[in-house]
Amino acid sequence: MSLYANTRKTLTVSDLAAMKQAGEKISCLTAYDASFSALIDQCGIDVMLVGDSLGMVIQGHNSTIPVTIDDMVYHSRCVSSASKRALIIADLPFASYANPQQALANAARLMQQGGVQMVKLEGARLDSISHLVAQGIPVCGHLGLLPQSVNTLGGYKVQGREASQAQNMIADALKIEQAGASLLVLECVPASLAKHISQQLTIPVIGIGAGVDCDGQVLVLYDMLNISIGNRPRFSKNFMANADSIEQALSDYHQAVKNATFPASEHSY
Ligand code: KIV
Repeated sequence: MSLYANTRKTLTVSDLAAMKQAGEKISCLTAYDASFSALIDQCGIDVMLVGDSLGMVIQGHNSTIPVTIDDMVYHSRCVSSASKRALIIADLPFASYANPQQALANAARLMQQGGVQMVKLEGARLDSISHLVAQGIPVCGHLGLLPQSVNTLGGYKVQGREASQAQNMIADALKIEQAGASLLVLECVPASLAKHISQQLTIPVIGIGAGVDCDGQVLVLYDMLNISIGNRPRFSKNFMANADSIEQALSDYHQAVKNATFPASEHSY
């Protein structure tokens, strides 16, 4: 058997880069368990994010801060056990990457025990990003609204509306790419700023509340299925409203991302 035989045919970082080059939008959803992982995978979604949003939608907290690395490893393993094609990313949770060594130890757990192919961390943590990349760990950056910093940001608010904030975000995005990240998530950012950053970067930019011109979109699964506790954020959409099954809602979301019909202006800032 060839050393290079890839029986799982999992999408790779190179596949995502090629999709950006070809102008094909990348679809992404959060996932936290094996049953949804299998459904999302069967519907053709390109990327699954084991988000630390699980602290809110699974554990019932009012922020992502209580989520631990053990929680993330457990849910990552659940998701990776049931998927075949989607590339799986897991969040490094709050305070699990305070320095590059700690980031490496925890990212290694997510990959070795959780079975994911990439880790995501919030903010321009350039030393940690380059350290992980040097060890062969693909990294996804995350700018804009950083939920792990909700207590310093003073709430869940749109980021980058002021010119100086926007300039800092553009500079951070370029530095994250230079540090070796393979992907960048932009959360709750004005659509025009997200478009500019997407055009400036070579790596794909995945938006959530960041307008239609990003290279791909991600939503929290429970928001788009309309089963989250509390109000759905303005940038999300209830894909169950016109679907008669969960599979239909997932497929409709996938198609809407691919066709750039989601997000519409009412989901953007
Ligand atoms: O944890 C999460 O679900 C996320 C998305 C909001 C991008 O980081």
